[in-house]
Amino acid sequence: MSRRKINNWHPIKGQPLTELDKRMMYLQNKGHLVPSRKLIKTPEQIEGIRRSGIVNTGVLDLVAQEIKEGMSTAVIDKLVYDYTVSHGAIPAPLNYEGFPKSVCTSINDVVCHGIPSEKEILKDGDIINVDVSTILDGYYSDASRMFMIGNVSPEKKRLVEVTKECLQIGMEAAKPFGFVGDIGYAIQRHAQKNGYSVVRDLCGHGVGLEFHEEPEVLHFGKKGTGMVLVPGMVFTIEPMINMGRYDVYIDEDDGWTVLTDDGLPSAQWEHTFVMTDHGLEILTY
Ligand code: MF3
Ligand code: CO
Repeated sequence: MSRRKINNWHPIKGQPLTELDKRMMYLQNKGHLVPSRKLIKTPEQIEGIRRSGIVNTGVLDLVAQEIKEGMSTAVIDKLVYDYTVSHGAIPAPLNYEGFPKSVCTSINDVVCHGIPSEKEILKDGDIINVDVSTILDGYYSDASRMFMIGNVSPEKKRLVEVTKECLQIGMEAAKPFGFVGDIGYAIQRHAQKNGYSVVRDLCGHGVGLEFHEEPEVLHFGKKGTGMVLVPGMVFTIEPMINMGRYDVYIDEDDGWTVLTDDGLPSAQWEHTFVMTDHGLEILTY
């Protein structure tokens, strides 16, 4: 077996080594995966992503006010589009790799990437994830929330609540100079303790200058594995938690909608975070 070292961190030629350079080169010499320099956002870039996050939060607050039984998911799509463009921003999903709408709306056993439609009407007892991704002045933010329509069964309510706890617990597990795997470990533990499973096939991701950047943020795994978390990194945590088994499949007809294999419900919450010297800060509040 051969091991190839990945040298992601390079000092800037002709400049003296900074403390960060020394720390990164030490970590990567020990065999850890470290971010490349472009994954460490400048204060100016972080402010840009924060402004994008403010529009993103405004969209989700509007959806929270308006969403109700009898509404089609196409109406949610229009709310998202209109609010976003009237605030000088662009909905990131629209035309992204051929995605036809401005937002993902994922009901009950739809795990994620549901496509809004006039034919899809919210019913009493539904749980729905609304996933909003926003581009403002070239800066990307990404967040999603669950909404409960009318009288939701206690079983589905608990799934929604535990999934929100998974996001919170994942956030608290992320420490500066800790590892991406610490996040997944904490989320998996909490989900499984509650009798649920963590979707394996989709993950969180770096975000900010592009929609999807490195690293992949798995919502399961082992402590001390994966990329080192360095202050200035911006990424999402977005656990998809299934009431039953973790297996999922993609709807062949639309090529997007991800569903649970066993037909049981799935929930998801998401925020965009920046790593600081003290831990994660939410940029989508
Ligand atoms: N918002 C999703 C995420 O959290 C990505 C959706 S891609 C789309 O990463 F094309 F379906 F919008
Ligand atoms: Co995301």
